[in-house]
Amino acid sequence: MPLDEGGIFPYVRAVFTSFSSCMDNAFIATTFDWDHRTPKTWQMLVNKGLRKMRIPIKISPAPPSMANVESRMNLFHLLAQTIAYKVPGDVVELGCNAGDSTIVMQKMLKQLAPEKRLYAFDSFEGLPEITGSDLADGVYGKGFMAAPLELFKYKFKKLGLELPVVHKGWFQDTVPQGLPERISFALLDGDLYESTKHILPHVYERMSPGAIGMIAVYYDEAVFPRRGVSMGYKSPGVKRACDEFFGDKPEKVRVLYANEYSNGFFRKR
Ligand SMILES: C[S@@+](CC[C@H](N)C(=O)[O-])C[C@H]1O[C@@H](n2cnc3c(N)ncnc32)[C@H](O)[C@@H]1O
Repeated sequence: MPLDEGGIFPYVRAVFTSFSSCMDNAFIATTFDWDHRTPKTWQMLVNKGLRKMRIPIKISPAPPSMANVESRMNLFHLLAQTIAYKVPGDVVELGCNAGDSTIVMQKMLKQLAPEKRLYAFDSFEGLPEITGSDLADGVYGKGFMAAPLELFKYKFKKLGLELPVVHKGWFQDTVPQGLPERISFALLDGDLYESTKHILPHVYERMSPGAIGMIAVYYDEAVFPRRGVSMGYKSPGVKRACDEFFGDKPEKVRVLYANEYSNGFFRKR
């Protein structure tokens, strides 16, 4: 029984009986200083001073702008599930930016499923021209989040990791031809309605039964309202595109807690 239908035991059994699916995940907190919840020594000293002065404020490292530790933990466990269940197909990321989540997946595949290839897609010029309902949302602008391909490559080199297959360009030009034939896991992180709407059908049709699609930002006010959290953590167009797409499909997107973010995922029937 799939986990999103309440069956935890098959997953636990699959993980524990599959020796090859065991791996440490502390690197998710420590790689490139991704653990923004733990204050640095100097910040602890400042906090101590603030406490002494009875000032009720605590400082900690700035939250990262692309993903947080909770999102990466969700990514780790969802990808681990598809590996433990031996879902056929390769792994893709649509919207890889500077590669921080790509690195998590590549490290996991290297250790747990070296036979799978990882494919990463991005313009490496940030978001495209904002149009239609994305324009009405008023959250993003053209070129937001631009991260050059050189930075992506540098991060992989620094960690001694093999580069994934990289497709540079706009999704509409790269995704239809560049996706692998079979997909076992997909991380969808395009932030816009238009980008998400474009990629979903291409990815969905290639997903094996049991494959997981993780939606990096899926904010559902009805499940977990986050008042006061900025719209950049909510990317409202993504949920609109997903809900439209899954309106006539048997799968449903589930929400996963991720602190500032809300992640979503679906499992292909
Ligand atoms: C939030 S970032 C991805 C963050 C990354 N997954 C991570 O966790 O570090 C969104 C990325 O999607 C890319 N993007 C969005 N729409 C796109 C499109 N239509 N074509 C190509 N890239 C796109 C942007 O360039 C941006 O780098």
